[in-house]
Amino acid sequence: MVRDVKSIISQMTLKEKAGMCSGADLWHLKGLERLQIPSVMVSDGPHGLRKQTGKGDHLGINDSIKAVCYPAACAAAASFDKDLLYRMGETLGRECQAEDVSVLLGPGVNIKRSPLCGRNFEYYSEDPYLTGELASNYVKGVQNLNVGTSLKHFAANNQEERRMSISAEVDEQTLREIYFPAFEKVIKDAKPWSVMCSYNRINGEYASENRWLLTEVLRKEWGFDGFVISDWGAVNDRVKGVEAGLDLEMPGSNGMTDMQIIAAVKDGRLSEDDLNIAVERILNKIFIFIDGRREEVFYYKEDQETAVRIETESAVLLKNEDVLPLSREQDVVFIGEFAEKPRFQGGGSSHINAYKVTSALEAAGNVTYVKGFLADGTAKDEEEQASLMEAAVEAAQKADVAVIFAGLPDSYEAEGYDRTHMRLPKEQDKTILAVSKVQKNVIVVLHNGSPIEMPWVTNVKGILEMYLGGQGVGEAAVRLLYGESNPCGRLAETFPLRLQDTPAYLSFPGNGHTVSYREGIFVGYRYYDKKEMNVLFPFGYGLSYTTFAYSDLNVSKTSMKDTEEVMVMVNVKNTGTRPGKEVIQLYVSNQTGMVERPVRELKGFEKVFLEPGEEKTVRFVLGKRAFAVYQQELGDWYCASGNYNIEIGRSSREIVLSELVSVESTKELPFVVTMNTVVGELLHHPRTRQAGEQLKDDILKALCGGSKQPKDEKDRKVMEQMVDNSPIRSLRSFCGKTDEELIRLIKTMNQ
Ligand code: BGC
Repeated sequence: MVRDVKSIISQMTLKEKAGMCSGADLWHLKGLERLQIPSVMVSDGPHGLRKQTGKGDHLGINDSIKAVCYPAACAAAASFDKDLLYRMGETLGRECQAEDVSVLLGPGVNIKRSPLCGRNFEYYSEDPYLTGELASNYVKGVQNLNVGTSLKHFAANNQEERRMSISAEVDEQTLREIYFPAFEKVIKDAKPWSVMCSYNRINGEYASENRWLLTEVLRKEWGFDGFVISDWGAVNDRVKGVEAGLDLEMPGSNGMTDMQIIAAVKDGRLSEDDLNIAVERILNKIFIFIDGRREEVFYYKEDQETAVRIETESAVLLKNEDVLPLSREQDVVFIGEFAEKPRFQGGGSSHINAYKVTSALEAAGNVTYVKGFLADGTAKDEEEQASLMEAAVEAAQKADVAVIFAGLPDSYEAEGYDRTHMRLPKEQDKTILAVSKVQKNVIVVLHNGSPIEMPWVTNVKGILEMYLGGQGVGEAAVRLLYGESNPCGRLAETFPLRLQDTPAYLSFPGNGHTVSYREGIFVGYRYYDKKEMNVLFPFGYGLSYTTFAYSDLNVSKTSMKDTEEVMVMVNVKNTGTRPGKEVIQLYVSNQTGMVERPVRELKGFEKVFLEPGEEKTVRFVLGKRAFAVYQQELGDWYCASGNYNIEIGRSSREIVLSELVSVESTKELPFVVTMNTVVGELLHHPRTRQAGEQLKDDILKALCGGSKQPKDEKDRKVMEQMVDNSPIRSLRSFCGKTDEELIRLIKTMNQ
């Protein structure tokens, strides 16, 4: 159906238009019967449908309809599987159609700046490239069912502490390279219907009224054509918001801000055109939804199996000293209440009313079970805890293998507050250590939304990271433990050894008003790798029950212009005895001599399935963005001329093959020579290189007393370095030049 949205808007009163820009209630946009505009519903997201039909809230307190809870983003990201994320999106899109939900509020693509952020479980990764690729596929999947998504929380919402008022103090290069690219990728590639602006301020200005963010970058640069929705209650100044590009306020403020919009239009502070555009953007998507309604069914049973499958493909095997997979003949004891009551999702607005949760205990059938500790850490007193642990130790002693189901209690991480440490509850650490004293085959299965410290890492033989794996987590754990499925997840974030090692340790979560992103682009592995720090488990890491070999890394060219692309090919072979999936990771390492660059950055990944003995060729195509850095002076991406190492790795710490490619820049950095430009800078720049060499010679000669060269090699090096660091004005003192002569020289160099 062709709709003339502009003509519909022209029939609306000012009041109706202002009203259209705020919610009818917590979950509905306003309709307008007179003009046949229906009221549509939006719901959280992102890892299940949280449709509230009764009393609504945006904090996950009141119940929503029964739905399927899929693995949270922390888990799904570890799949490193774009197709899987697409299928998860499609399944959710179908559920939304079945439930008449027009927009699913997600995915959340904020970067994990610190492992302490209480909402990290809802986010994908510490790496922007991985986040962007996965989220883009998820969005395409949902929207393929003609249901919208709301990409959130734009931007720099990386903590819960004072999330509604804190100002993230962050430089533009860091925003562009770390905190923006996932948004940029999804917007350009998957065209989400809406973007949700964040609560916080960025460099002093609320995201909800930041024109640079919501209009200049989002729409003009990236081409976003949907509507911007406020996070629930994120509006500070509604009129400024409309001007900045914030179209829809949710959940609305009982008409108060509508009145402010009306008054501003009437007294000329707000142009009616700005208001019309906001309404148009909202109506466009409402009509796309309405005109594309489909008869779909919420298949609870099938979708439950999808949830199990996603989790099976996402869990990460962190350690395995010949203890896994288990066999059905072994006498296995399950310890820890998480075996019976798995923690499978986090708290807050993403909380799903899961229709069916399968515990590992239920899924495994014939195993012994002792509690050992309670999942929510609520043992009455030390005595009760001691007796729970004693029973666990006793049972472990009698068994062939002890599997301890550990994890973070609900109260440890949720929307609304951050963690203050990275430890498990102490009774869990204690139980793991006590059990490992009497049983040599100990496996720890983890349920957590973010990294933890593992004081027992060397005392156990196996560690399986399930993250917050959705309602099928128990079943997935059992399939993996018993080898019915082969683990193939990889860490989408570094597990540091301890909190003090983390990049934002000194500034997180700020002083209550501002938080300084001092670590800049050095987030996650970019930081640990640069500092050559030991970590517990690196980014990209994960084991399998089979083995893989890499060979024949080939690049289609070894030198190229930054306007060209290079194809990278590598062979990977399953050299073990079980079918399995491998994640091939491609990193680019900048060797051009730029100082402030990470050691390497992820720029490609593929997941492939291989039968034993099977070999496949994996291909990547790299263009300018794989090599470029954001240059503030240029206001654009810039690719320095020089060498780049293309590295194929199993993780950021295990590079197996590499090839050099030399890239030539087609862009010149702006370079203005002044009296204070140093000789070294002149030598670096093609335009001034020759003149720089002449100056260098002149100064060297002058310093060595006429034409004489320094006596020995060592002296020459010292002199050269001194000269490289000398500004042009120093020629006055060293070479007797006049200001007039120098100004003339500078003028020619600037031509
Ligand atoms: C959260 C959003 C969520 C919204 C609606 C807010 O508190 O930050 O992520 O979509 O509530 O529940």
